[in-house]
Amino acid sequence: MGLNIRGRSFLTLLDYTPEEIEYLIDLGAEFKRMKRCGVEHKWLSDKQIVLLFEKTSTRTRCSFEVGARDLGMGVTFLDPGSSQMGKKESLADTAKVLGRLYDGIEYRGFKQSVVEDLAKYSGVPVWNGLTDDFHPTQMLADMLTAREEFGRDLRGRKLTFFGDARNNVANSLMVACAKLGLHYCACGPKELMPSEALIEKCCAIAAETGAELEFTDDPACGARDCDILYTDIWLSMGEPAELWEQRIALLRPYQVNGALIAQAKPTAIFLHCLPAFHDRNTTVGEEIYERFGLEAMEVTDEVFLGPQARQFREAENRMHTIKAVLWATLQ
Ligand code: CP
Ligand code: NVA
Repeated sequence: MGLNIRGRSFLTLLDYTPEEIEYLIDLGAEFKRMKRCGVEHKWLSDKQIVLLFEKTSTRTRCSFEVGARDLGMGVTFLDPGSSQMGKKESLADTAKVLGRLYDGIEYRGFKQSVVEDLAKYSGVPVWNGLTDDFHPTQMLADMLTAREEFGRDLRGRKLTFFGDARNNVANSLMVACAKLGLHYCACGPKELMPSEALIEKCCAIAAETGAELEFTDDPACGARDCDILYTDIWLSMGEPAELWEQRIALLRPYQVNGALIAQAKPTAIFLHCLPAFHDRNTTVGEEIYERFGLEAMEVTDEVFLGPQARQFREAENRMHTIKAVLWATLQ
């Protein structure tokens, strides 16, 4: 049965019930099925949305654009260089104008408070396309990908995040797993564990849903009985490049490689939100190799190109699940 989330913003999964999150994943699966079967679904042809990006993107931007067009909507893309926001016009004023012109606003940027203020002042649904704290649309794609592997009921499955366990993706995974009753394991150095405040919130959610939360600095513990090995870039957008050296020293033991995945369940899958530093075929990857001699960072090619890798399916699922969010909040 459909739930009604029309008119709501999608800023963090903390604002959504487990049933609402399941509903969005179900809807994403249904949009995927329709697209595969060639069933047209231009159901929102009277709507216009704007995409506001203060950080770079491939998947999120393209998923919003393709998803919106499949739904028949008009889309405007604004990058930091092409809007007045923050420089000549306040956030509140920008939100008030955009809310009069558009039916919904996607925002990717820095502070979580910006996406919250956009929602407050614009009066239309706002979707968080990644902030320093959270990346909620990513979670819907991740959980859809996990479901495609393990079935609809993910309760009790162990998902371990290896690496910078307090970044936006890791924070969101902890919330998503808590909401959906998974066993979430944050595996990384003590310096890079989630905030006490977020852990407290997730523990309270877990007490309701039966989820389990684990925190460890031992990669072997993270991999043991693991169904989903997840990692992300070691230095997120907005963090200073001077931190690379320190971050590499801290996170090297948490690289997802052949030896680590071999300690997980044989049926385990690998996920990564992408982009990934798994080889030297990027300018940053090559620079890191020259400075530190690392052929790969958070994941090696053995895993990234191996039989357990599902990250490209996961990337495709971004579009189907973002379409679900657009439809559910704008219908
Ligand atoms: N996973 C993700 O958000 O990718 P982009 O940064 O390319 O949007
Ligand atoms: N943690 C990464 C996620 C990219 C999708 C970043 O913020 O750069």
